[in-house]
Amino acid sequence: MTTDAACDRTTPLRAGCQGEPPLTARLEPWMAELLADREACHDLVERYGSPLNVHDFAPLTRNAAELTAAADDAGVDLRIFVARKANKTLGMVEAARRAGLGVDVGSFRELEQVLAAGMSADDIVVTAAVKPRPTLRLALDARATLVLDNLDEAAAVDAEAAGTERGAPRHPVALRLAPRPSDRIPPTRFGESVATWLTWARGRDADHDRLRIDGVHFHLHGYDAGARAAALGEALELVDELRALGHRPGFIDIGGGIPMSYLDDAEQWRRFWQEHDDRPDALLWRGKPLEQVYPYHQELVRGPWLRELLALPVGPRTSVAEALRDRGLELRCEPGRALLDGCGLTLAQVVHRSTTSDDVPLLGLEMNRTQCRSTSDDFLVDPVLVRAAGGAREPFTGFLVGAYCIEAELISRRRLRFPDGAGAGDLVAFPNTAGYLMHILESASHQIPLASNVVADGGGYERDGIDAVSPIRPM
Ligand SMILES: Cc1ncc(COP(=O)(O)O)c(C=O)c1O
Repeated sequence: MTTDAACDRTTPLRAGCQGEPPLTARLEPWMAELLADREACHDLVERYGSPLNVHDFAPLTRNAAELTAAADDAGVDLRIFVARKANKTLGMVEAARRAGLGVDVGSFRELEQVLAAGMSADDIVVTAAVKPRPTLRLALDARATLVLDNLDEAAAVDAEAAGTERGAPRHPVALRLAPRPSDRIPPTRFGESVATWLTWARGRDADHDRLRIDGVHFHLHGYDAGARAAALGEALELVDELRALGHRPGFIDIGGGIPMSYLDDAEQWRRFWQEHDDRPDALLWRGKPLEQVYPYHQELVRGPWLRELLALPVGPRTSVAEALRDRGLELRCEPGRALLDGCGLTLAQVVHRSTTSDDVPLLGLEMNRTQCRSTSDDFLVDPVLVRAAGGAREPFTGFLVGAYCIEAELISRRRLRFPDGAGAGDLVAFPNTAGYLMHILESASHQIPLASNVVADGGGYERDGIDAVSPIRPM
């Protein structure tokens, strides 16, 4: 659907709440349909409580297909693993499995759950930033690919692998590369240098070692294709040297960081920043500027971004695509956000209207800030107001607040305009929250239960299995 067509149809939906200035969310058709059905939204929140994370994973397949098409056109074999840290639902795992995608896991529980969901070990990569012994043991027993981050971890894997019976198949591992810091690539606390991995690999028997080096991995902060091309150049160097030692790495995994856009309109995004810098008092809570935020609009996303990366040079005469093809290497990636684009929204119940002691209007929601929050300063997408039945109320501009008892812990620091008012009984919907915005920082602070999660299922929504799994360590 074109942007214009999407906007036309969703304009009435957006009329009830706009940021100052507006940042108009891209809405998937399923989101627009649900949000236009006031009764359905209210029924869901009545049934499952507030806040409620609503998922439809149909866009996951389309998002992945964009990447695959870009790789196909460049003659590159691509394998995609969805980063599970971006969304905890089992519905996402099932959708990945149905779409023929793998899953990247970041903890023991994530691994245990994808195995229990029937995911094949070939389709699992374990990139957890810390891997205690039980995580290593489970990965070894399942034969899921383990990404080795550092030498201590590699030694722990050796120690665990020594316990596997003789004659058992060798265990697949990938080496996490820490690319050389440069103008483009900031220093990283993950991985080891080419030199360190080569020293480690040199002492090993390429044919009989219990660990089999299947690939080289890296993950960079940010979204710069050029930085990834530079890191790929180093990864190729490591692959070539490993092969010279007799090892047979067959893939390079570029991790995540594939860009997406929450906003279609580049001009809105530009204007937001201009006004942010010119008159922060008018835009933000107590005028405090935002510091670190996700780029909610990006020029090149997913497919076009990957096409650009594959066409970039590595070395004097070769492109990334050619370098991979020449060596018969598979390209792997582990996107989270870019694959979950369009897969979820969060609904919250309005509980009250109030004002601060200096007369700033507030709209109180039954949720806390961790339930729509990532590691950046704010979620810069206009919410959608889903009105309860009844007449118009007094217009106002103000802020969304939630359960936290801390003055500055608002749901959003952006000033929002409600031209027809808003109040108890209405719902506020946060569009496109499936990637990181609902789960990565969620908490049960104040002993408020975590949000429920539902997944589209044959015309309705069913509770996701993850809600039955306690996040507390069993005694
Ligand atoms: C190792 C690794 N892979 C994949 C990802 C997913 O990144 P993104 O969701 O930005 O694509 C991350 C995110 O931190 C990561 O650390």
